[in-house]
Amino acid sequence: MTQLDQEKVGRFAERMTDIVNGGALSLMISIGYETGLFEAMAKSAPASSEKIASDAGLNERYVREWLDTMVTGRIIDYSPESGTYVLPPEHAALLTLASGPDNMAVLAHSVPLLARVQQDIVECFRKGGGVCYDQFPEFMALWAELNEKIFEQTLISKVIPLVPGLPERLTEGIDVLEIGCGEGHSLNLLAGAYPSSRFRGCEFRSTAVEEATTKAKSLGSNNVEFEHKDISKLNESSAYDLILAFDVIHDQAHPRIVLKNVANALRPEGLFFMMDVQASSDVHENLEHPMAPFLYTTSTMHCMTVSLALDGEGLGTMWGERQARELLAEAGFRDVTLKHVEGDIFNNFYIARKGEI
Ligand SMILES: C[S@@+](CC[C@H](N)C(=O)[O-])C[C@H]1O[C@@H](n2cnc3c(N)ncnc32)[C@H](O)[C@@H]1O
Repeated sequence: MTQLDQEKVGRFAERMTDIVNGGALSLMISIGYETGLFEAMAKSAPASSEKIASDAGLNERYVREWLDTMVTGRIIDYSPESGTYVLPPEHAALLTLASGPDNMAVLAHSVPLLARVQQDIVECFRKGGGVCYDQFPEFMALWAELNEKIFEQTLISKVIPLVPGLPERLTEGIDVLEIGCGEGHSLNLLAGAYPSSRFRGCEFRSTAVEEATTKAKSLGSNNVEFEHKDISKLNESSAYDLILAFDVIHDQAHPRIVLKNVANALRPEGLFFMMDVQASSDVHENLEHPMAPFLYTTSTMHCMTVSLALDGEGLGTMWGERQARELLAEAGFRDVTLKHVEGDIFNNFYIARKGEI
């Protein structure tokens, strides 16, 4: 029998303890996010469980158990002398709505939302196939909310300027298509910022198209329209100057067809701007990626499975730069530049053209 390295066993036991505690804490952070406990605590000085429960309008016994979880998880500080709890402002900066895109409670909240499809995913491990988009209403809404907050802060000021000359061309007026536009957050922002350009969004979830259209109307935008369409069936030629795909291609059932459709729909000098997950296509190069286990999990339980549910390729969230470049080249993009937004560890921005510069 192989002799076990007991020191290694001990180290792994510590690691497993951390993992199990982290999983449990993710559930309780998610409860804090849903109940508004972090918001209530961020506004108050050190307080008793009774005061915190009353401020949040919640049951004291549950709140006290939650607080003690947060104390032992080193998220909230406790004073035994006064029997009071406080959320340090440095922690509130990463756990409250005021934190905007830095709110990591949103990421913790996605763990129980993904767990809702766990039994279906287990079935897919046994029999293959996938779980469809319509099984993920809350997870998708959460992700759309997160992307909306990020876009509000970065789209016009940092993302669009990654392409030299693009802000100026959008100001002059060009034809723009966004594929897989979801609830239309990015396109509605762009339509407002660049009134001389014409924007169209395609999306195959009708609820998202309705939400995007309602928002455009409420903003009074008349230069944007949203269409219920499967982008694998997009059949237009030389129609757009700019095509956007934000967080969309790795989910696709048929990414190669979609990328070819995109190349075809672009005018000869047109530009394809693709935001996708920052990762290597080779797992051993993702060991130092700070969110790799989270992203591979999200892939297994959402991005990859929605593709496989449609008999798709199942690229997965972590398809990475090498595969992205291969698929872009296969679709006919000969000139591909990769850019990053400072401070964004999640996304790669590919700027792709059919011709050479
Ligand atoms: C991860 S979401 C990203 C949404 C949005 N672009 C954003 O950044 O918030 C991917 C979107 O692509 C849509 N989608 C996936 N495959 C599609 C297809 N073949 N045709 C149209 N929309 C598709 C999904 O419904 C979903 O809204």
